[in-house]
Amino acid sequence: RTLDDAGSLTGKRVLMRVDLNVPMENGRVTDATRIERVAPTIREVAERGAKVILLAHFGRPKGKREPKDSLEPVVPALGTALGRNVAFAPDCIGEEAAKAVAALKDGDVLLLENTRYHAGEEKNDSAFADALAANGDVYVNEAFSAAHRAHASTEGLAHRLPAYAGREMQAELDALTKGLESPQRPVIALVGGAKVSSKIDLLENLVAKVDMLVIGGGMANTFLHAQGKAVGKSLCEKDLAETATRILAAAEKAGCRIILPVDAVAASEFKAQAPHETVPVDAVPEASMILDAGPRSVAEINAAIDDAKTLVWNGPLGAFELAPFDAATVAAAKHAAARTKDGHLVSVAGGGDTVAALNHAGVAQAFTYVSTAGGAFLEWLEGKALPGVEALRAGN
Ligand code: 3PG
Repeated sequence: RTLDDAGSLTGKRVLMRVDLNVPMENGRVTDATRIERVAPTIREVAERGAKVILLAHFGRPKGKREPKDSLEPVVPALGTALGRNVAFAPDCIGEEAAKAVAALKDGDVLLLENTRYHAGEEKNDSAFADALAANGDVYVNEAFSAAHRAHASTEGLAHRLPAYAGREMQAELDALTKGLESPQRPVIALVGGAKVSSKIDLLENLVAKVDMLVIGGGMANTFLHAQGKAVGKSLCEKDLAETATRILAAAEKAGCRIILPVDAVAASEFKAQAPHETVPVDAVPEASMILDAGPRSVAEINAAIDDAKTLVWNGPLGAFELAPFDAATVAAAKHAAARTKDGHLVSVAGGGDTVAALNHAGVAQAFTYVSTAGGAFLEWLEGKALPGVEALRAGN
């Protein structure tokens, strides 16, 4: 159920779970993307006459009141994004929270302190969830990026109050459904990043679901090694060669075309502007490391994107933070963005470095949907049920 099903919110205390786990330096928010994404929902609920009570976590204080994990420094950025005053309470349950909630007028917005200051949050403790629920009449989950956690504020609350998906949660779930659950075919997944070890479940799930799978970044080296190619000094998880072979076999069985690099940009050291050369993947010099996919690989990836109607992207194709080893990631991202703009492709991206890589390529806005989620996006790509979403579905 979405906010459209919530009926009149006038005078209601709406407990809204948001993800304010934003990058911060010296007490100031350095990237407000997550805040800006949820601001319209907060404004909508406030304008519908509710008292908006925001619940969020910050960092991983594990039940301790660590000052560095306070949400108070987020208040100014939240106020700016909303264009209205945001009150703050130094606890999310108990007297201080209750007092701050009681002081709210219709349309006011209050942020409660870090839910993870209480051990009961991560334990999804029933008494703690009850204490949170005591401050609300309605629960809205607007934090897809925390939905892989079965915590009191992301899961427990949905069973205690009338529960609704927020607008961003709804948009994210719509995009993910279009990306993998009921996509327009052919579907291409592009998976990069450093290590296979962190993405085994994800690759296994994807080969069963997509038509084409591009394996890029450092993790491609393990696959090349498994195919008997010498990868020199490249990052390579040699102990995972069998896993890589198993994934390739599963892909073949499922009819999923695997696209691995055919050429590579190899450098003598892991450094921006390091001396480098483009070589076929079976001719990587012993003293070199692969830092990017080469132009023939990019051409093959782009041609595969042309054949696809849906693209799911997670992880860069090379060491994109070190110029010029960003070339393959930037070229493929620009190509996908152009295909999206001309209406040929639904493109969904997310997880970890992906948003940074697309921003670096200057094309994040051109994708159909870019998720702000890290772990939750990965777990979704792994095919796992997300407790925060399941609880909303089960509803109350
Ligand atoms: C995130 O930043 O990905 C979410 O806020 C979840 O944070 P967590 O990994 O600490 O649960």
